[in-house]
Amino acid sequence: MRGVISAPIWGLLFTALASFAQAPEDGLTSRELGILQEPPSTRAELLSRGEAVYDYWCRTCHGAEPIKPGTAALQAKYQGALPASLTERTDLTPAFVRLMVREGISMMPFFRPTEISNADMDALAAYLAPGASAN
Ligand code: HEC
Repeated sequence: MRGVISAPIWGLLFTALASFAQAPEDGLTSRELGILQEPPSTRAELLSRGEAVYDYWCRTCHGAEPIKPGTAALQAKYQGALPASLTERTDLTPAFVRLMVREGISMMPFFRPTEISNADMDALAAYLAPGASAN
């Protein structure tokens, strides 16, 4: 039986992996989200668009649950000196958000303008850095 993993072992492995797998996120499909080319005209629309963009592209890794890889990495980085969840941060600036999203960092991928348009980036930056002015 050397080199052969028996069926019950595979079953156990599968069950263990399945319990760690992330459930699919709720929310909009890519088609429903779409890609905005012109920023919304009101501040309220800008913020709600930013939240939708965040929910679609970022929450998978930066959701509040500590198991999310972005949240876990930021917990390790700041050791609680800053909130691990991005939406609880009050120190983010639009320029920093843009830089991270366009360049990526460590295991965080960069996002192209064909994924997150400049208009959507403005909305995302406004949502994550609501206290800051345009830049
Ligand atoms: C695949 C997972 C993943 C996705 C998707 C992701 N991130 Fe990240 N993000 C990370 C990780 C991991 C880090 C921490 C990297 C490090 O410094 O070790 C990070 C870091 C950041 C930082 C830097 C925070 C700091 O203080 O250092 C910002 C800002 C950020 N992400 C914003 C976003 C936004 C906005 C989105 C959505 C467009 C996004 N991320 C999508 C994984 C992700």
